[in-house]
Amino acid sequence: MSLLFEALRLRSLRLKNRVVVSPMCQHAANAGFATPWHMVHLGKFALGGAGLILTESTAVDSRGRIGTADLGLWRDEQVGPLKAIVDFVHQNGAAIGVQLAHAGRKAGSQPLWEGGAAIADADMRADAEPWARLGPSAIRAGPAWSEPEVLDEPGIASIVESFVAATRRADEAGFDVIELHFGHGYLVASFLSPHSNHRTDRWGGSLEGRMRLALEIASRVRQAWPAGKPLFCRLSAVDGSVDGWSLDDSVILSRALKRCGVDVIDCSSGGLTEETKALPVPRGLGFQVPFSERIRADAGIATQAVGMIVNAEQAEGILRAGQADLIAIGREALLDPYWAHHAAQTLGVDPEFAQWPVRHGIWLAKRAPGLARALDRT
Ligand SMILES: Cc1cc2nc3c(=O)[nH]c(=O)nc-3n(C[C@H](O)[C@H](O)[C@H](O)COP(=O)(O)O)c2cc1C
Repeated sequence: MSLLFEALRLRSLRLKNRVVVSPMCQHAANAGFATPWHMVHLGKFALGGAGLILTESTAVDSRGRIGTADLGLWRDEQVGPLKAIVDFVHQNGAAIGVQLAHAGRKAGSQPLWEGGAAIADADMRADAEPWARLGPSAIRAGPAWSEPEVLDEPGIASIVESFVAATRRADEAGFDVIELHFGHGYLVASFLSPHSNHRTDRWGGSLEGRMRLALEIASRVRQAWPAGKPLFCRLSAVDGSVDGWSLDDSVILSRALKRCGVDVIDCSSGGLTEETKALPVPRGLGFQVPFSERIRADAGIATQAVGMIVNAEQAEGILRAGQADLIAIGREALLDPYWAHHAAQTLGVDPEFAQWPVRHGIWLAKRAPGLARALDRT
């Protein structure tokens, strides 16, 4: 029996398998509203057999968008187009989560195909939607980035409230999961790291102070999110900087997040920008799996492994070794949106195409024996 295709229950949610499509920014929204691009992009992963699909980073505040065309849940009107996608995904047998995020001092960057650089302040001011780079301290993300405005107490309180309001909207849209984006150098990650957070008040200083915003958001979101629905957090398990955020810190934070009612830690890394260029995490197959393994073992919480997990045997091996509970795939899903169905066939779980959308599977199953014979003859 395959573990990858064993169902997993998280609170009241039953995932049909352990394959998760990782959040991937599309830069295709219109003033934060989902467009037909998102329906096709996310919908195809439901047809492709994943158990859980996570949306791209979805801004809780227009000021905290990563890019101009990020998805958003900062207005009630943004719920409708997302609900249509959620409904389609549910009708096609998958669960769907929304990744809620605030980009903080890294707000305002171009899509990679336009260079990926920081957007100039003047261009940010010219945008129809309000925008601002915000941070714990007046430390820029890098030479090309403008200095962030330092958040004061009311500013921090308003960020927490925007996560709570987006949580209510996510529930209204019918999402099954919220993933809080606490990694990649965005707002919460910038509070965690001693490089970007030089505060001397209760939101900085000690590890406890730097973790306060993460724990406050997680607790408040947990209270606003139905008790039966799971809550995930994505962390940069290490930020890759010298004397920065460490794996030991992530274990301590994960234990505290668990106490706040977080169910799964999604174990990514890096992204604090300039500081992380000192010690980049080497990229090989499954390069972040050891982070997931350590957090799962030492914090006693379910984890999601991500990063260069490319084939069924590798994914199955990670689960069998107890290194993760869920397997997230990103770029491999772009290459093959039907990755989960192909993995099921590789692992011998679905030889008859029974898990495929019925409109497709029946034809593929009918063709299979004749195709095998034809290939034998060639
Ligand atoms: C096009 C693209 C967009 C991404 N956008 C996000 C995002 O919105 N939020 C996030 O946490 N990670 C984002 N990531 C990172 C992925 O979720 C994933 O962690 C990373 O690509 C490593 O997994 P992979 O090797 O399977 O692609 C993005 C990656 C890609 C390729």
